[in-house]
Amino acid sequence: MQVDGRLYRTVWSVPAKGVVRVIDQRHLPWNFVLQDLATVEETAVAIREMHVRGAGCIGATAGYGMWLAARESSGSMKRLEQLAALLTATRPTARNLSWAVERQLNVLKDLSPDQWDHAALTESKAIADEDASWCERIGEHGLPLLSGIHEKKSRQAPVQVLTHCNAGWLAFTDWGSATAPIYAAHRAGIPIHVWVDETRPRNQGSRLTAWELQNEGVPHTVIADNAGGHLMQHGKVDIVITGSDRTTCTGDVANKIGTYLKALAAHDNDIPFYVALPSSTIDWECRDGVRGIPIEERGGSEVSTVEGLTHEGVVQGVNLVNPGSPTSNYAFDVTPSRLVTGLITERGICDATAEAIAILFPPTARR
Ligand code: MRU
Repeated sequence: MQVDGRLYRTVWSVPAKGVVRVIDQRHLPWNFVLQDLATVEETAVAIREMHVRGAGCIGATAGYGMWLAARESSGSMKRLEQLAALLTATRPTARNLSWAVERQLNVLKDLSPDQWDHAALTESKAIADEDASWCERIGEHGLPLLSGIHEKKSRQAPVQVLTHCNAGWLAFTDWGSATAPIYAAHRAGIPIHVWVDETRPRNQGSRLTAWELQNEGVPHTVIADNAGGHLMQHGKVDIVITGSDRTTCTGDVANKIGTYLKALAAHDNDIPFYVALPSSTIDWECRDGVRGIPIEERGGSEVSTVEGLTHEGVVQGVNLVNPGSPTSNYAFDVTPSRLVTGLITERGICDATAEAIAILFPPTARR
């Protein structure tokens, strides 16, 4: 997608320098900073500390991290597996991370070590390209949902979409999942307006989704996380679209903390609640999201502090919470399938049920 008129992806390799280059999302929206990752350790830190974040983006970064691992492990499969485990342990909830690491291990295990460098680089590019093209297809499949809503409204009235967190292109390698149908509709000339949940504690909505939508010229409004239910009660939301970090094969969805509350409010107000996801987020072994999906707990300082731009133009953190009060910081929650109207995938839209998912993704045709 565009940044100041230039096309970017979130992560790519620079083989001549032996590095992986990423957009360091910690500095957005105030500064656009690229970071070079030269080692597996640096890659693990970048994922754990959220220089890169979002399901597809951390999957692709881990894929490239395995290229660095192939170079670092001096032909030792044991060392390669240790480095793979280091990457996998960085963030437990998003399925893409372990999916990409396992995919690389499966490629490398059948090759001789002198082939690892080339093969791992090729596979990491394939993972990143696939992520971008799957998200683009999610946009194509989601577009009729938005055009259908528009046809039922008066011509000028925008389709009102509410989204939570950042399931935009920054969270993938390109396009995004929840934002892909929005970008497709905007480019097709359908008037659209997005309610952007700020998404405490790290504010991925107000910082990243808002920045992305502005770069693409999509009208949007940032709202406090608690505002969605009120907007829904008053007819100001036509559809909710979120992303997913891990989807069970039965259609439960783990996404940024607070998503479940939006799904409950949408259900109560009869508003369609769609989840946009590439199949790389599907955990084929997990049938019960509430009990089976590991939920990452992050440091309490993300809750007790917030970062912003001072009037002097300095990016700075401040304390928000009564000194001495404990904090808790669950990073994700699970929305049960019964609250999900449908899943927008790279192969089309389906119900959030085991049967419907298996029809789109039969066991013999999964990546
Ligand atoms: O903790 P993050 O920022 O990595 O959270 C993941 C997400 O980006 C969201 O949950 C998103 O909506 C899922 S789709 C990538």
